[in-house]
Amino acid sequence: MVDDTRWWRSAVIYQVYPRSFADGNGDGIGDIAGIRARLPYLRDLGVDAIWFSPWYPSPMADAGYDVADHRDIDPIFGTLAEAVELIDEAHSLNLRVIVDIVPNHCSHAHRWFQEALAAGPGSAARELFWFRDGRGEHGELPPNNWTSIFGGPAWTRVSDGQWYLHLFAPEQPDFNWANPKVREEFEDILRFWFDRGVDGVRIDSAALCMKDPSLRDLDPDDSLTPETLAEPGQARPPHPYTDRDENHEIYRAWRRIADSYDPPRALIGEIWLPDTERFVNYLRPDELHTAFNFDFLAAPWDAAALHSTIDATLAAHAPVDAPATWVLSNHDVFRHVTRYGRADTSFTHDHEHRRRQTGAPSDFALGTRRARAAVLLSLSLPGSAYIYQGEELGLGEVEDIPDDKRQDPLFFRTNGANPGRDGCRVPLPWSGDAPPFGFSPPGAAAPPWLPQPLSWRALTVEAEKGDPDSMLELYREALRIRRDEPALGDGTMTWLDAPAGVLAFYRDPGFACVVNMSSVDISLPAHETILLASNPLVDGRLPSDTAVWLRVDPPA
Ligand code: GLC
Ligand code: CA
Repeated sequence: MVDDTRWWRSAVIYQVYPRSFADGNGDGIGDIAGIRARLPYLRDLGVDAIWFSPWYPSPMADAGYDVADHRDIDPIFGTLAEAVELIDEAHSLNLRVIVDIVPNHCSHAHRWFQEALAAGPGSAARELFWFRDGRGEHGELPPNNWTSIFGGPAWTRVSDGQWYLHLFAPEQPDFNWANPKVREEFEDILRFWFDRGVDGVRIDSAALCMKDPSLRDLDPDDSLTPETLAEPGQARPPHPYTDRDENHEIYRAWRRIADSYDPPRALIGEIWLPDTERFVNYLRPDELHTAFNFDFLAAPWDAAALHSTIDATLAAHAPVDAPATWVLSNHDVFRHVTRYGRADTSFTHDHEHRRRQTGAPSDFALGTRRARAAVLLSLSLPGSAYIYQGEELGLGEVEDIPDDKRQDPLFFRTNGANPGRDGCRVPLPWSGDAPPFGFSPPGAAAPPWLPQPLSWRALTVEAEKGDPDSMLELYREALRIRRDEPALGDGTMTWLDAPAGVLAFYRDPGFACVVNMSSVDISLPAHETILLASNPLVDGRLPSDTAVWLRVDPPA
C-alpha cells in the first residue's frame, strides 16, 4: 500500500451495499464471496477505498442498520474469516477498507437489549437504553412526543409496561450514550476492526447519539429546517437529540483511538445538519476526519445553487482544516440520474417531498447527461469524493418495485406514503441480457432480492466496458486522470469568470473545470488541451449540461 497517512483528504471512496453488489452463492442476496470476486473491477475502476454498508449479524429490519453483533458477519454475507480475507485482498490491490459503525442504536436482537427486556424496570441492563414509564394515568402514552425518523412514534411499549426509545424503527433501540459501558463497548468495537486492518470507519447517524437526559418534548422551536436556522452567531437552544454538544466528547475519544494506530485510521461521519457551522464542528482537528457533504447531494442542478453550496462548504471547512467531500448518491436517496431528469432536481428527506418526487416524470437521457457532467464536477472539486455502487453504470432509481417486494421500513412505517429507499438498492447488473444480469451465478436458487428492470441490459458492466461513450468508461477515465493530476484531490480552487448558468474554476497547477448548466452552448476559456469532456463538444463549443476538464495556464 502507498503509505500516505493523509489519503482520506483526497480519496475517492466507493460505497458497496453488500446485499446488492454481487451474489456469490446464488441465494439472490449479495455477499462477501461476490465482493471478493469483483475486487479487480473496483481496482480497474480506479477508486482508492471501499466503504461497506453493514454486514454484521442482523434481523435485517433496516437492511443491516439494525446490528445484533458488531464483531461478526451475518451468515447471509459470509463469515468473519472471509471478511478478514477480503480486507487483506483489497489491501493487496491498493484499495483501502472502511466499515460502517452504527453507534446510535442496535438491533432489538442484540444481546444487551434482550438482557434489558428480561431484567425489567430499574435494572442496570435497562440503563444501557432509554427505558421509561409512559405518561397518562396507566402509563399508556409514550414518555414524550418524539416521532421516529421512519414515521410513527419514537417509542414502543414492552410487556411490563415500560417504553423504549427508537429514533428509527422499533427494531432499532437507541443506546444511552450517557452510560460509560456504551462508550467502552464502542471503543472496543473500533479497536476490533482496526486490529483487523480496516483503514477507517463510516459512522452512522453520528449527530444523534447524545440525548437531552430529561427527554423533554420537542417543541416547534426545535425544528431543524434551514428556514428556522438562527442568525449566524446567535445561539439556539440545544435540540433534545440532534447535534448535542456532548457528542463531541465521544468523537474526541474515538480520534485518540484512531490516532493510536500506525498508520492512523480515519473517521467519517454521516451527519445531516442544516447548519454548516455546526456540521464542521465535528471536523475539528481532534474529532472526525471528514463527513459526507449532503448539502451538495441535496442541491438542485442549478449553477447558482451549486456555486453557493460549494462556497459555503469550502468556507466552513477551511477554519478546521478538514477536506470537503462531494457526494451525489448513496443508499438512502434517489439515484441522481433520475433526480436530475426531473423538473425538481433537489433532494430532501421530507416525507411529503419524497412522495411527490417518486414517479414524477424523469427524462432519463437528460438525467444521464447531467449525471455525466456532475461527476466531472464532483471529482474535480477540492477534497475527497464518494461513488455509490451503480452510479458508475448510470443506473436510475427503480420506481416500479411491487409493494409486496419492498423491504424498507420507511415504506411500512408511513403506510406506503413514503416509498422508501428500495429503488436505489436494486442488485447491480454485471452481464447478460436478462435478470439476474450476472448478479447471481448461473443456476442460482433464488432471483435477486429486489427485481431488476429489463432496461438494465444496456447498463451492465459487460455492455459498458470498452464503449467509449458509456458512463463506466467516463468514470474510469475521470478517475485515471484524477490519480495522475497533481491539481486534483485535496487543495484549493479559484472561481473563473463565467456566464450565467456556468460554473468554471481553476485548480493549481494548470487545471480547469467548466460546467455548462445553462440552456445555450458557450465558448471555452483559453486552454492548451481538453483532458476530458462529459459529452462531445459541438463546433468547439460546450453544449448545455456538459462539463470539461481543461489543461490551462494559471489565471492572470
Ligand atoms: C443512516 C443510514 C440509513 C439507516 C439509518 C438508521 O441514515 O444511512 O440507511 O436507515 O441511518 O441506521
Ligand atoms: Ca448470496
